[in-house]
Amino acid sequence: MTATSEHPWWREAVFYQVYPRSFADSNGDGVGDLAGIRAHLDYLEDLGIQAIWLCPVMRSPMADGGYDVSDPRSIDPLFGSLDDMDALIADAHARGIRVIMDVVPNHTSIEHPWFGEAVAAGRGSRARERYIFRDGRGIHGSEPPNNWPSIFGGSAWTRITEPDGSPGQWYLHLFAPEQPDLNWENPEVFEDLATTLRFWLDRGVDGFRIDVAHGLAKPEGLPDMTITDNRLLAHNDADIRFNDEGVHDIHRKIRKVIDEYPEAVTIGEVWVDDNARFGRYLRADELHLAFNFRLAETKFDARAVRDAIENSLLAVAEVGATPTWTLSNHDVRREVSRYGGGPVGEARARAMAMVELALPGAVFIYNGSELGLPNVDDLPEDVLQDPAWERSGHTERGRDGCRVPLPWKAATPPFGFTTAARSWLPIPPDWADRTVERQRSDPSSMVSFYRAALRLRAERTEFGGAGVVWLPGPSGAVLFQRPRGLICVLNAGPTPVELPAGNVLLASAPIVDGLLPTDSAAWLV
Ligand code: GLC
Repeated sequence: MTATSEHPWWREAVFYQVYPRSFADSNGDGVGDLAGIRAHLDYLEDLGIQAIWLCPVMRSPMADGGYDVSDPRSIDPLFGSLDDMDALIADAHARGIRVIMDVVPNHTSIEHPWFGEAVAAGRGSRARERYIFRDGRGIHGSEPPNNWPSIFGGSAWTRITEPDGSPGQWYLHLFAPEQPDLNWENPEVFEDLATTLRFWLDRGVDGFRIDVAHGLAKPEGLPDMTITDNRLLAHNDADIRFNDEGVHDIHRKIRKVIDEYPEAVTIGEVWVDDNARFGRYLRADELHLAFNFRLAETKFDARAVRDAIENSLLAVAEVGATPTWTLSNHDVRREVSRYGGGPVGEARARAMAMVELALPGAVFIYNGSELGLPNVDDLPEDVLQDPAWERSGHTERGRDGCRVPLPWKAATPPFGFTTAARSWLPIPPDWADRTVERQRSDPSSMVSFYRAALRLRAERTEFGGAGVVWLPGPSGAVLFQRPRGLICVLNAGPTPVELPAGNVLLASAPIVDGLLPTDSAAWLV
């Protein structure tokens, strides 16, 4: 793989997001692990992806699926060892696949040694300065320091007991109480992250997905907020808990470390809607890439899809950055279900995959999308693990429905995912027809379709060039052309549409008499 600074490897890469708990289990404990991923690199290579994004695998008590890290420079035994990680990187590299890891700089686990020290060291200590401790409001400080809710429900503040046994200060946690927010005004916090980044980069990792990249800096004085809609994923630009201007200095510092490794990439989780504010994260000395979630948030509607694409392109154009596209991840409902479920949802998911793969920039595919997996909305309550379920008083089921393990083979659960009798979340029996084994032998399956699409995207020069030109078309259809010639047509309307002149490279549904059926897409050159 060659890459230059003018044309870095990640600019048009297809990243495959692995949710390690749910990809493949090698040791029979019902939970996926690093050796399981390594054992399936053939599958990923054959699929045709260029890089893997690995959700957190560092040591963690797993209060939030690993996003509560107690030692950022280690591997959790649930997933394996540092040797397993080294072996995965080496084997992936041998196949030309890059590996990026998830880092979680906004918070640690309460089991991180720093947090124990902070509680033990008492008020005003240096150890407490690594987190955001404050005295409470009201008589005896019995009220939280401000009115911020946690993303997972309840207050964003938890009161500790001081070492002398008295009711004490409160600490901030934008997420679960097991995830105390770090104080990014303390230089030690940055120094530690820098050590972590170098630790993994020196082991051969190709970059990082930066968790909550828009949340690290907090507004001066931690004022009360006015937003009342705190539903999970109800992102709002007016939410002062996120996107504080001070965050950009932090990204500049992170970038300096990353630049010590010329081919490394950073991709930020940036839930910011406003194009100008989003673009600021991608200035030349900040993040390389940031997730643009517009496509994942957009319904299957021609106008909405076109708007999402236009806005995503605009957001990066001003700063000359690379666009990114994704239909889903481990936090959102799977696209097949969002688009209506069943055969319709699946047809639309196929069509939207063609849209994202036709666009300029980097694409992120969430594991299982290529199998057309639906969201599992009826998981039994007693298996739900997302902290949102408990924290919301059982009003938010949370994100487990998109984290159900992958079905690999055989006719009954757990479908070769594990040799244990049960996987950590149960796999629906009717996924028997969605296993990798079944789909790979069927040329019309979702996985065969993804494979064909990824091959064309990698091999055909018509996919080249920046930006898109919109072509006229009937209402309900979206048509765009890439500078080197590829035309993508999406039919989100109720009736078949005529295709423009050209040779069809791929279509997500059979074309009859030159007409592209509803809920489908085609590529032409
Ligand atoms: C990000 C992750 C999500 C996690 C949260 C807290 O949004 O994608 O899964 O719960 O950060 O770390």
